[in-house]
This record gives sequence, structure tokens and C-alpha cells, in this order.
Amino acid sequence: MIDIQKTLQNLGIDAVNLGVSTGTEWFDTTGKTDSSSSPIDGKEIAQVKTATLEDYEKVVQKAQEAFQKWRLVPAPVRGEIVRQIGNALRIYKADLGALVSYEMGKVYQEGLGEVQEMIDICDFAVGQARLINGIALQSERPLHRLSEQYHPLGIVGIVTSYNFPVAVWAWNSALAAIAGDVVIWKPSSKTPLTAVATQKIIRQVLIDNNVPEGVFNLVVGRSSVMGDNFLADKRIPLFSITGSTSVGKRAAEIVGRRLGRTLLELGGNNAVIITPNADIQMAVMSTVFGTVGTAGQRCTTTRRVIIHDSIYDKVKDAFLGPYEKIGQKIGNPLTDGNLVGPVIDIHAVNAFLDAVKKVQEEGGKILFGGQHLTGPGYESGNYVVPCIAEAENHYHIVQEETFAPIVYFIKYSGDVQNAIDIQNDVPQGLSSAIFTLNVREAETFVSQTGSDCGIANVNLGTSGAEIGGAFGGEKETGGGRESGSDAWKIYMRRQTNTINYGAQLPLAQGIKFDI
Ligand code: UN1
Repeated sequence: MIDIQKTLQNLGIDAVNLGVSTGTEWFDTTGKTDSSSSPIDGKEIAQVKTATLEDYEKVVQKAQEAFQKWRLVPAPVRGEIVRQIGNALRIYKADLGALVSYEMGKVYQEGLGEVQEMIDICDFAVGQARLINGIALQSERPLHRLSEQYHPLGIVGIVTSYNFPVAVWAWNSALAAIAGDVVIWKPSSKTPLTAVATQKIIRQVLIDNNVPEGVFNLVVGRSSVMGDNFLADKRIPLFSITGSTSVGKRAAEIVGRRLGRTLLELGGNNAVIITPNADIQMAVMSTVFGTVGTAGQRCTTTRRVIIHDSIYDKVKDAFLGPYEKIGQKIGNPLTDGNLVGPVIDIHAVNAFLDAVKKVQEEGGKILFGGQHLTGPGYESGNYVVPCIAEAENHYHIVQEETFAPIVYFIKYSGDVQNAIDIQNDVPQGLSSAIFTLNVREAETFVSQTGSDCGIANVNLGTSGAEIGGAFGGEKETGGGRESGSDAWKIYMRRQTNTINYGAQLPLAQGIKFDI
């Protein structure tokens, strides 16, 4: 059992904490003080003093000043600082992982995994810092050179969600930092302490390297201070936003009105297809992590399982055993052995119970779970028994993302294309997976007539992506790509350069303009 008081002490979390920082300096704000409590036991963990509009203004000005200096630091030198941030996170992995678990409710193993994801993206960004490249192109004009290069963009606003309270900051800020940008982080109001702790972890690195004050900014603030005004702020060219589709649509509208750039990671309605050619044992074990991991609160959580009718009963039965076992492992996520912690709060519980009710009203049948847990160990009121419901894809509730551990089993018949069509027939497009040992089915799934999602996996589940690939999805998921691959490009502005090193002035397209 983890000693939370010790964890808080190690991370420098006090009873009342400052919530605004420009890197090494913290502002003693006069904003309202917010309390953060644990979904595990409902107890207050600590308080955070939130920003005022004046604090926000000071932070933006500091960030602007810092950008003038930071963009001149060579990218590999910026990468060296990110490398040291990764090392600082290695030192605090156990403590930060425990606080993620305590403040957010995911099991400790997943809390550790989240911090590992931060470390991984730092490593990735260190390498990328030496690989920010452009391209040389061929000019149609003699003695002309045509090329493209990338420059730092400016301030990046990062709005994160409670479910990955610190990893998503790391994905964005590690890449933004090596790109020469500065960041302003608005963490979820449900998980401000993990943000404060992260900002404290990186402090010594910033001091040791004389990083300009204002490169890594944190602003814990209410929506009156960090809401529409933040999104509408023209001084912030890029916003990276993780949250529900409705939050993202609103935010994109506000940023879009001023033609700012957005990187959106919104809702998913991720499906696993299990075909008659699947290794059923593998399919079940892998899918269960996707359905109940993080108590169903990953944007990549498996929300639908589309099963061929010829194996439907067999597959359904194979799920019940693991679910029975998991039913015995619901509880304090800091206790070894528990696999499912609480959902974030009573609103999430109600959304879960509402989905359980609605799926039945629409004609579905509960195969497992769906209850709200009460009694010893569950006093916070935030624990539920993960649910499996038999449903049809067109049900309203199935078309929506319920951010809780409820999964819908859906039958398909005939060809794999029928399963793919069902899988694609939802508004969201984040993650997807197929279980099959048949190469035609697998390749069809990842082909242009296959999954329409940003992530399409074969013989592994929908969640738990590595940081090396681009992460994000299509349709109502928002179209953004962050993390690995060439996601760094969105944090930079692209410039096309034509250089004439001759003595003539030939015009493109062969135009003659003789004066
Ligand atoms: C999220 O749920 O917001 O692929 C991110 C995954 C994790 C990231 C999830 N690496 O499940």
C-alpha cells in the first residue's frame, strides 16, 4: 500500500498550493482556492490557488518574452533540456505515478505507465530535436534554389483532460519545446495537483540550464479566467485540446474565428472486430484491457466489440470468465491486485448508469455488471461494476461515447467488410482493431476500404498506443495528430524559400514581363 502523505511530501505538494507558474517562479495569486479530492476515497488531497485575469496576463507576457529568447536556442540544446526533464521524471516516476493514481483513480500500474509515456516522449523529442528537417525541391528556373524549412511558432496553449492528466502535457510540451515554442498549460480542474507536481519536477532542470522564465507555464484557473478568453487570445497561435467532442467543437469554433490553429484529440467510439478466423483466447484477453482498463476512461477505450454470428456465443462466454475475475478486483487502485478503480466522479457514475438504462430501453440486454457499488471500500460512491451489454450499432446510446466501463457487443454476419462497415458507422474515428489470423481480412481492415480511424490495429486492442506513432483520429475525434511520427510539424510554421543566385530575373510559369 502506498503512503500518500509521503508521496505528497516527496512531490512538494502542500495543504495549499500555488497554481500559477512561469517555470521556476510561482505566483501568489488572489484567485479562488480550489480543492482537489480523490475519487478513491472522496477525501480532499490538497488545495490550489487559482489564477486571476491579471495573473493570466502576466503569464502570457512572460511567455512572449521567453519565446523571443527560446527560439534562438539551437534545437539540439533545447533537446538536451527535454532530455534532462525525462531524467527528472524517471526519478519521480513512482511518486508521480502514485499521485496520478490517487488524484485520477487509475490503478497504480497505469499511473506508472502514464509517467513512462512522459519519459518516452521526452526521449523521442530529444532525437527529433536533431531531426527537424526541411526539404530541398527542384526549381523550374535556372540558378534558383527552392526549399522548405520549419521555424518555431510561438505560444502553444495546452488544455488537458483528467484521464491522462500529465502524459498529454508531456506529448505536447516536449515537442513544442524542441520546436522552439513556449507553452501555457491549463490542466483539468479535476486533476490540478498532478500538474503542480509535474511543474515542480521540472523546476530544477530549468534552473540548472538557465532556461528563460516563461518557456514552461502552468495556469490553474477557472473558466472565467482560462476559458473563452484563453482560446480567443490572438497571441496564442496553436491550441492543443484534449476532451469530449462537444468541448472540442466549441473550442475549435472560438480558435477558428480568429483562424488560429487547433490540434484536437476528442471522443472515440472504438471497436474491436472478432472474426471467425480469430485466436479467440487472445482476442478476449487483449480486449478486456481495452474495455475495463482505466475504468473505461481512455479516449482509446474499447466501446464496441463486433463479433461474427458464427462464433458469437463462444466469444460471449469467453468474456464472462475474465469479467467475473475483474468483478473481484474492483477497489482502491493503489492496492496491489486491484484492476479497476473508481470513475472520476458522481457525474461519470450517472453517465454510466444512464447508459446501462438507455441500452435496455432501446432493446439491448445486459450480459454482465452495470451496478453502482456501495458499502465498505466504496464509500466515495465512484465505483461501478464494468458492464457488457448486447446491443445494435444504430442505438443512440451506442453511437455516443460514454466515458465509463460499458462495452456493447454487436453481431455481424457474412464478410469482414460488413463488420468494417458497422465499425465505421459512428460519428467518431479514433481507434479500432481486428482479431483475425487471416491475411485477407487483416489487410482489408487496414486498406482504403477498411477502418476509417486514425489508429487501426491487428491482433491487439484499441488502447495503449506507443508514443512513436502519430496519435489521433478522424471525424468527430477532431483530426489532430500528436505524439510521434511527424506530429512535431504542427508546432512549427513552414516556410518556402526561393533563392535566386543568378544574375537574371526569370519569372515562374515562363511569364514575360519586359519593362
Ligand atoms: C487518452 O486517453 O487521452 O493509447 C490518451 C492509449 C494511451 C493514450 C490515451 N497511450 O491508450
